[in-house]
Amino acid sequence: MSRELFQPSPGLAAKAHADAATYQQMYDRSVNDPEGFWGDQADRLDWIKAPTRIKNTSFAYDNVSIKWYEDGELNVSANCIDRHLETRGDQTAIIWEPDDPDAEAQHITYRDLHANVCKFANVLKEMGVGKGDRVVLYMPMIPQAAYAMLACARVGAIHSVVFAGFSADALAARIDACGAAVVVTADEAPRGGRNTPLKVNADVAFGKCKSSPKMLVVRRTGGDIPMVDGRDFWLHEMEARVADDCVPEAMNAEDPLFILYTSGSTGAPKGVVHTSGGYLVYASMTHQYVFDYHDGDIFWCTADVGWVTGHSYIVYGPLANGATTLMFEGVPTYPDAGRFWAVCAKHKVNQFYTAPTAIRALMGQGKEWVEKHDLSSLRILGTVGEPINPEAWNWYNDVVGHGRCPIVDTWWQTETGGHLLTPLPGATATKPGSATKPFFGVQPVILDAQTAEEQTETAAEGVLCLKDSWPGQMRTCWGDHDRFVQAYFTDYKGYYFSGDGCRRDADGYYWITGRVDDVINVSGHRMGTAEVESALVAHPKVSESAVVGYPHPVKGQGIYAYVTLMAGEDPTDELRKELEVWVRKEIGPIAKPDLIQWAPGLPKTRSGKIMRRILRKIAENDFDSLGDTSTLAEPAVVDDLVENRMKE
Ligand code: WT7
Repeated sequence: MSRELFQPSPGLAAKAHADAATYQQMYDRSVNDPEGFWGDQADRLDWIKAPTRIKNTSFAYDNVSIKWYEDGELNVSANCIDRHLETRGDQTAIIWEPDDPDAEAQHITYRDLHANVCKFANVLKEMGVGKGDRVVLYMPMIPQAAYAMLACARVGAIHSVVFAGFSADALAARIDACGAAVVVTADEAPRGGRNTPLKVNADVAFGKCKSSPKMLVVRRTGGDIPMVDGRDFWLHEMEARVADDCVPEAMNAEDPLFILYTSGSTGAPKGVVHTSGGYLVYASMTHQYVFDYHDGDIFWCTADVGWVTGHSYIVYGPLANGATTLMFEGVPTYPDAGRFWAVCAKHKVNQFYTAPTAIRALMGQGKEWVEKHDLSSLRILGTVGEPINPEAWNWYNDVVGHGRCPIVDTWWQTETGGHLLTPLPGATATKPGSATKPFFGVQPVILDAQTAEEQTETAAEGVLCLKDSWPGQMRTCWGDHDRFVQAYFTDYKGYYFSGDGCRRDADGYYWITGRVDDVINVSGHRMGTAEVESALVAHPKVSESAVVGYPHPVKGQGIYAYVTLMAGEDPTDELRKELEVWVRKEIGPIAKPDLIQWAPGLPKTRSGKIMRRILRKIAENDFDSLGDTSTLAEPAVVDDLVENRMKE
């Protein structure tokens, strides 16, 4: 891993919300006096009834209970909209950039947002939705997705966004799991020049559901779709009948705001439950500090609202802060590999937040695509989702940021609601590939995976756990608190277990080594698959790679590397040798891949996460239990990999 240190520029630090000294002083208070610290932070919200009980949390195995601001009352949508109207009613709240670059972008002011959300809320009420009811959203990346989320919050309903890339089966399972009263969808979702038939998918899902919800349909493309009388309703028709004002419901701080289903290592997806007060305080504070957001900045998070990143950093965090947030309907490579940078230039984006997989993909297309566009508005670059290999970090830093934009590598999870480990742009010197230091109130600990002992030396390696709660933490699994306790508080009692492996270096910097189930053990040496991948990707001919373990008669586990080459490179045996030598040189002989398979593509979820489960099965020659591959971005990739599995 890289030892380079990138200091925040003094100019940026001087204007930032926190410089190094401020960070340290605030951090110390946040862990020594959490009640005082988070009590003060409650003031970033407007409360209907201000909380007096700040923190009431227990990680004890037999009594896992997490409550923040428990006697407070607020409405999340009023905090994201109404309270800004007086001072910034005419300011753009949401910039919407459509899939088609020639179609017109929309600038939605806070006043427009208020009217749209109120109308949407009144429509939900007309459909019988009230406090505590569940509403599933299966939506394209259009402003109505944000309206729907905020409208649910306004009437006290709990939304559960299902990523529009999920299949009808997955949608049906989630509708049933939370007992949705209404499903909101759109006729079609344009992405990369192609339309996904969302309404038709939803119809199929409804056919498989045990429950019988109603459907609210947004007209996006105007495509011809069937409507079921008495079950399906057009949003625009319903909206014509309702008022554009709606009094926000008073909610308890611990009332659920949303459920988000996320995959665990076993069983059906878990319904991660986030509540209202603590979540919004945390999303708002992290958005402000981590991206050093200042009034007037244009913030762009490229995630989909189907993921927690979209919840916290497209909708809730930015809007709570009165920010201008950009919502992009399309994909990074349509109409060409310069789209991200074209959008940054067009809307003068100041903070840009994306995933390593996107960075690597664009890196593979060459820097000409970046250099075509004026990126001088960019001030902060962010990354999230997986460890970023130093090669991609440096490319992001040099080619996109021209060496003048701090990179915030933010480690967090659906479960954590917001960033836990991350640099602050004006405060933290960065190291390529490290998520650096804890955010305020976050107490990371590294435990020995076997003995569960806390590693007290600064330099340490083990599993990453959290010692105490933070306001954005998930509260339970929907309808299954035991599962919550089982998944996160059982293996390492008294701690929240993240599921990630982690190394802390001598400077106290945290380096995520990947999910613990991705850690492989070769001849008794523990190795992060991310480390090997990073080495491979550092080779100029390699665009992407995924490394998994496979059973090896001598070493316990061998290293199996899937490698995608840069466009135009030939997959020869010479190159294979070259890569083996390269990895030996980069990390050491123990990291040399035993088998390298050329992979024209890697199996990824539609959110871009590599499906290691499938790669492990292929590497294990276990082709019969590949599981459901239908939710992959490109299911055909798997057939190619199976066909060309390397022989020992
Ligand atoms: C897992 C959580 C949180 C939004 C996106 C993913 C990995 C996430 C980083 C990072 C290294 C990271 C971890 C984590 N991860 N961010 N900056 N560096 N690893 O949310 O789907 O809940 O996945 O993503 O393994 O546990 P998620």
